[in-house]
Amino acid sequence: MTFIPYDRPVRAAFVGLGRIYDLNVRGYLGNHDVEVVALVDPSEERRAQRQADWPGAATFGSAAELAASGIEVDAVEALLPIPLHADGVVELLDYGWHVNLQKPMCNDLADAQRILDAAKASSKTVRVMENYLFYQPLGKLKAAVEAGEIGKVAGYHIKMVGTGLGGWEVPWSSFEWQLQQIRAGRGILLFDDGWHKLSTAIWLFGPVREVRAWIGTTSFGDGIDLDAPTTISWEHANGVRGVWDITLAPDMYLRSDYYTNDERWEITGNSGFARVNRCTARGIQQPSIDIYSAGEMRSFHALDDDWASSFRDSGRHWIRWLRTGEGPLLWSASEGVDVLRFALAAYESSAAGGTGVDPAKVV
Ligand SMILES: NC(=O)c1ccc[n+]([C@@H]2O[C@H](COP(=O)([O-])OP(=O)(O)OC[C@H]3O[C@@H](n4cnc5c(N)ncnc54)[C@H](O)[C@@H]3O)[C@@H](O)[C@H]2O)c1
Repeated sequence: MTFIPYDRPVRAAFVGLGRIYDLNVRGYLGNHDVEVVALVDPSEERRAQRQADWPGAATFGSAAELAASGIEVDAVEALLPIPLHADGVVELLDYGWHVNLQKPMCNDLADAQRILDAAKASSKTVRVMENYLFYQPLGKLKAAVEAGEIGKVAGYHIKMVGTGLGGWEVPWSSFEWQLQQIRAGRGILLFDDGWHKLSTAIWLFGPVREVRAWIGTTSFGDGIDLDAPTTISWEHANGVRGVWDITLAPDMYLRSDYYTNDERWEITGNSGFARVNRCTARGIQQPSIDIYSAGEMRSFHALDDDWASSFRDSGRHWIRWLRTGEGPLLWSASEGVDVLRFALAAYESSAAGGTGVDPAKVV
């Protein structure tokens, strides 16, 4: 398939106008490479609310109604509940639209293959958007390590604490589909939010050849079973090992404009270390990245470390790609499958008592 960039502003539609629209919209606002022509959501309240951003856009209760309307659409921002991703993306591709899909791509490899097949059949592109790859402190971390600022990489760890207090409102309707995901064995910490951490691992150090996992459960009643404490370790094809611990602190308050979640990435080299101290939340009042080498600590105080900016930059990257065809998609659908395989390998390993699993061999 040869992609031909658009020589005019891209005509885009938002499908799904819930909580995360608030951040995804930032790539579109003030962006002269795109024209938002339609807004789709079964909720009348959401349509009315989001229409304020795009008074000229038409609104619809379903993608089928938009497709039948005759309005020309080039690309769709798919912000659907996770259980609807696979069927939803296949439908959007079948209408002949490029799709920028939220993570996680889908729950299993059969659904991933359906998405890849639909993209091929329609000659349209699916991108699995990964805003973390556009978070400035993480970009700085990657650049510092690649420039040899901490010497040869010895290993790294990622830390994630699900904290219970602080952050913005999440509508109850979102919890309903999250519960559906939990029942399907795709937990909110490892598979949903955790998708980002697995993504950053592949982005930083390349393909993963072995995963060992120990996935726990903490039950809060009424089917609210969170997938922590959890520990996952892995080895990249280049020999670098990573480890990620997920813990819960339900009574911990963390200041956040978005979700409340304490996150860190720390890479150790043979002559120093580099650490990203936070991402989604703003709990820790220190620079978002520190780099230690030869007895000196360098801290960065002027990065755009607002998590929302990563959505803005990821969205702009996608629109720019549609306009020019330049650069990697971050991620393409097949790279999204690599992240999915990483997660599935963790589930398989944990079920087998923590044995090593090669993500490429997961079926
Ligand atoms: N990148 C990130 O860090 C991040 C953060 C949060 C959520 N997300 C992802 O964003 C997606 C949406 O999450 P959310 O928090 O906005 O959920 P949400 O529940 O707040 O919003 C989902 C919206 O989709 C609408 N919807 C349901 N069925 C639809 C259909 N058939 N067609 C069109 N719209 C439909 C709902 O009415 C609702 O308004 C999920 O895939 C989630 O994993 C990503």
